[in-house]
Amino acid sequence: MTVDLTSRYLGLQLASPIVASASPLTGEIDSLRALEEAGAAAVVLPSLFEEQLEHDQVELHSALEYGAHSFAEALTYLPEMDDYNTGPDAYLEHLAAAKEALSIPVIASLNGVTPGGWTRYAELLQQAGADAIELNVYAVETDPYTSAAGVEERTLRLVSSICSSVTVPVAVKVGPFYTSFANFAVRLADARADGLVLFNRFLQPDIDLETLTVVPRLHLSSNDELRLPLRWLAILHGRANISLAATSGVQTTEDVVKLLLCGADVVMVASQLLRAGPGLIRELTDGLGEWLGEREYASVEQLKGSMSQLACGNPRAFERAQYVRALVGFSPRDVAGQAERARVPDDSPA
Ligand SMILES: Cc1cc2nc3c(=O)[nH]c(=O)nc-3n(C[C@H](O)[C@H](O)[C@H](O)COP(=O)(O)O)c2cc1C
Repeated sequence: MTVDLTSRYLGLQLASPIVASASPLTGEIDSLRALEEAGAAAVVLPSLFEEQLEHDQVELHSALEYGAHSFAEALTYLPEMDDYNTGPDAYLEHLAAAKEALSIPVIASLNGVTPGGWTRYAELLQQAGADAIELNVYAVETDPYTSAAGVEERTLRLVSSICSSVTVPVAVKVGPFYTSFANFAVRLADARADGLVLFNRFLQPDIDLETLTVVPRLHLSSNDELRLPLRWLAILHGRANISLAATSGVQTTEDVVKLLLCGADVVMVASQLLRAGPGLIRELTDGLGEWLGEREYASVEQLKGSMSQLACGNPRAFERAQYVRALVGFSPRDVAGQAERARVPDDSPA
């Protein structure tokens, strides 16, 4: 029996649920081609950052509305960004070249938080052929006078201004740190976002003890990080009228299956692709087909959300009760077991 691997995300009919997330691999035409050949159902390009766009206009807007505190700081990082992505013109050229080279959907990414002039770039991305736009709203709120409600309102205004300026679908990539995330997710859907990408990884700075400077550190993810999106996908599936994408910690076919079971429409991969190369996409896609076939699933659709909070027999499994159970049920002997398992390589004979 052939398994139907197709999945619908942001209104796009995709050949499978495996998508290449934004990373340097999607920033080059050769690696984009290799991702498509390996079976990627869609690709997300690296972000075009608010800080790269219309400095004067954004600066004025920020100063008027929020105080200029964060903008000068952001600009100091710009030289480092030059290597990653060289600004709006080069971005639009890369997008157009990606569209030319690929036949799978190409999702462009905007990365910023303030509603303002830079958001008109969404229109330019659409004109350059983007099949959808991913809006990454990474922010670190440091002002003690900015409330959580204020941050949410600002994001909702940004989302609705972008959604009203384009006709292609818009997904919002968010971090997990909202006090009432389910409520915010539903309000993003009300602001006309077509999809949610869960979750942005917050890269924490470190201290270099030699130079006594604060340094950015980018660690590739491990699949322990999967469990945060897993929980929230399960909670949101069926509750908000919005597509759901999982990102963070995807390495294996089993990871893909778990996220689909909880309600992901697509599963995005970046870190493990950087480690293993584009061929990983083929491995995950074939692995998913085999996993489903062996268990007599006819399609990805049949699997999707079948262990979401609404569908599973034990809805409290995703709530506080599970936390209490994990703590109360913990035995110091588990630590010895974990250490022992960590010492034994996965592929050694049992
Ligand atoms: C080197 C690198 C560059 C990235 N660049 C972007 C980016 O430009 N925009 C974005 O939204 N996410 C970016 N990400 C985040 C990934 O798209 C992804 O959401 C995140 O790494 C979690 O997925 P993973 O665990 O598979 O790596 C980047 C990640 C890495 C490792």
